Amino acid sequence: MLKVLFAPLQGYTTGIYRKAHAEIFSGVDAYYAPFLRMENGKPREKDLRDLESTNAKCAGFADENCAGYKVVPQIIANSVDEFKILADALIAKGYKEIDFNMGCPFPMQVNRHRGAGILSDKQAVQQIMDEIEKQSSTENGNASANVKGTAPVKFSVKMRLGQDSPDEAFALLPILNEAPLSQITLHPRLGKQQYKGAIDFNSFEQFYNECKHPLVYNGDITSITQICEMERKYPKLAGVMIGRGLLARPSLAAEYKGLSDTNRAVTLNSAVPQDFFGKLFQMHQVIFDYACKTYQGDSQILSHVQSFWEYLEPSIPKKIFKKIKKAGKLSEYQEAIMEMRGLS
Ligand SMILES: Cc1cc2nc3c(=O)[nH]c(=O)nc-3n(C[C@H](O)[C@H](O)[C@H](O)COP(=O)(O)O)c2cc1C
Repeated sequence: MLKVLFAPLQGYTTGIYRKAHAEIFSGVDAYYAPFLRMENGKPREKDLRDLESTNAKCAGFADENCAGYKVVPQIIANSVDEFKILADALIAKGYKEIDFNMGCPFPMQVNRHRGAGILSDKQAVQQIMDEIEKQSSTENGNASANVKGTAPVKFSVKMRLGQDSPDEAFALLPILNEAPLSQITLHPRLGKQQYKGAIDFNSFEQFYNECKHPLVYNGDITSITQICEMERKYPKLAGVMIGRGLLARPSLAAEYKGLSDTNRAVTLNSAVPQDFFGKLFQMHQVIFDYACKTYQGDSQILSHVQSFWEYLEPSIPKKIFKKIKKAGKLSEYQEAIMEMRGLS
């Protein structure tokens, strides 16, 4: 059975979303938090607060005494200097596993040489991998990471094939293969494609064959059928990372985990499970209560709760989806939610 990892989506998979999902739908092996970035020369406070808002005790590798869920924070950096500052901030907070983003296609990041924008710079990536080597070793690493008796920090990478060409990923692969990475997640598109357009499965397969680290596939998975297909097609795959598919169908990971061996051989893409809407309302309630406690005024609260529904469009009636989206006042929003409750 493949590991199922929840992909980070800035603005959607917030701390409270991850917590509510883990408690109500479950089935996910680890939640990757949206990236922590630099702002005015230091780690962005808002990103750090989001990480702290949930279950810090269970952060990083879940330890035996922790019944919580696993959260892996992520950083985005354009140089080894930025990388060190951000990694140190997370290590100081006790995280034992950190993901490095080399895939974000947003022009704001790419133009600053971050995310997919760093893929064409072998030298910068080499320097970051050298730093990872240092931080991963108990002898040479950062002092805070190597307090006597504590495990070294693990680093993984989430990347695309390139910003402009898949040659970028293949030029980096020897460097990545040499680095002590715990995993690579590959989204087989180019940065210039953003999140649309064809997925390059030929390049994915070549990368899969040549990559020495556990490899996780990411991109456009929306059904159990597709997860089973990946499992069958790529026997040494370490897992799948799912973003929009899990936001649209939060039960997807648990449904896959619940399949018996016999079921797994057949392709299925069933209707949502019976308790789906009950769980969805439960999850919504947690997020709604949190937004009311944390933010002030209808528009701030609404922008947080409306984003919960955005990817759920395929799972809920169109008419109600539109009402939720259009609501400009909290009272209108609540009316739409009540209407949907009536349908469930
Ligand atoms: C709005 C939005 C925000 C995202 N934020 C992040 C992020 O912070 N870090 C990251 O690695 N990927 C980010 N991604 C990319 C997703 O993690 C994922 O790679 C992408 O959505 C493709 O997977 P999917 O088809 O399963 O959704 C973001 C994507 C979207 C659409």
